[in-house]
Amino acid sequence: MRTQIGIVGAGPAGLMLSHLLHLDGVDSIIVENRSRAYCEARVRAGLMEHWVAELLVATGVGDRMKRESMVHDGIYIAFNGRAHHINFSKLVNKHVVVYDQKEVVSDLIARRLADGGEIHFEVEDTGVHQFNSDRPKIRFCSLGQTQEIECDFIAGCDGFHGVTRPSVPAGALTGFDRVYPFGWLGILAQSPPPEKELIYAYHPRGFALYSMRGPGLSRLYIQCAPEEDINNWPDSRIWEELRARLGGVRELTEGEIVQKGVTPMRSYVTEPMQHARLFLAGDAAHIVPPTGAKGMNLAMADVRALANAFAEFYRTRRTQLLDAYSSTCLRRVWKAQRFSWWMTQMLHQDPSHSPFDRRRQMAEIDYITSSETGARSLAENYVGLPFD
Ligand code: PHB
Repeated sequence: MRTQIGIVGAGPAGLMLSHLLHLDGVDSIIVENRSRAYCEARVRAGLMEHWVAELLVATGVGDRMKRESMVHDGIYIAFNGRAHHINFSKLVNKHVVVYDQKEVVSDLIARRLADGGEIHFEVEDTGVHQFNSDRPKIRFCSLGQTQEIECDFIAGCDGFHGVTRPSVPAGALTGFDRVYPFGWLGILAQSPPPEKELIYAYHPRGFALYSMRGPGLSRLYIQCAPEEDINNWPDSRIWEELRARLGGVRELTEGEIVQKGVTPMRSYVTEPMQHARLFLAGDAAHIVPPTGAKGMNLAMADVRALANAFAEFYRTRRTQLLDAYSSTCLRRVWKAQRFSWWMTQMLHQDPSHSPFDRRRQMAEIDYITSSETGARSLAENYVGLPFD
């Protein structure tokens, strides 16, 4: 097989990259080790910065999103028995859109296939080779047969645990890492969300987040131990904790829990995000704790830059944008890292915190919920910083 861009991974990054390249007349092939059904059912965070929603619409993959998503003008921060609204529309004249990542993935897969795109699902033993040469190769096994894609460039869009980043020779990349001493236990429940917009709750028992997927479908999270055994959490205990941490600011209606799981929390960045003809994008290059809801948004920002750089290369044979890919992305990545870390440290109970830290945390929440300047900084970051 021969293509221009070989893409490893059919998550939001790989699919959107392939879609954008197609619109620019650049060919790509995607390989993915999971099945299509798995990719389309994987429950992930569901919050889009305003420009991501606009990008989906502008590139012709936003029809279902426009019908089924929810536009949110702000969020609530609950603490000390009160819910404070941070009004994005008023503060920065922008909004965010709630639409599950798996829906974005489903829409992009459908569109790629309708446009004649090639996606190989359920491949095994994927490896990336010779990306130091001008003939990089992706090898994989499909239906018992070894296959090879010869390409001009490889895009590693295969997530934090993927094969592309570890294929870079030792010493060529530097990882910057922070592991948090807590995780999130998340549920999907058939119950009306306690509020029309998201509630981020600071509580002495631990952080909680009240999000949603629709009027009758809540997506709810509670801070837990990083390696928490889900078996320690019968449904009744989860509801009890969610109710306690909401602190009486809203009513909580229980419903059937249709999905639950534990996510550890980590911040990670690799520098640079490129080695020779291998370019890393999305979680393959960086991950954020979910508190700032930045994961998919950063992936989309990466592939927007990467698609532009590839298109420019094929149009002009100039490599300026490709050479600048990593530094261009890292500026946005580090600002999103800072914001995600800041939201996380402000809202969670950290076992290493001293009484001083806890007072400082509460002063910080008090500041952003009482100062318009403090709230505007949160709002500007949450809706997505402007591109420059
Ligand atoms: C979600 O709805 O899954 C969600 C929303 C906001 C976050 C994290 C997760 O910060």
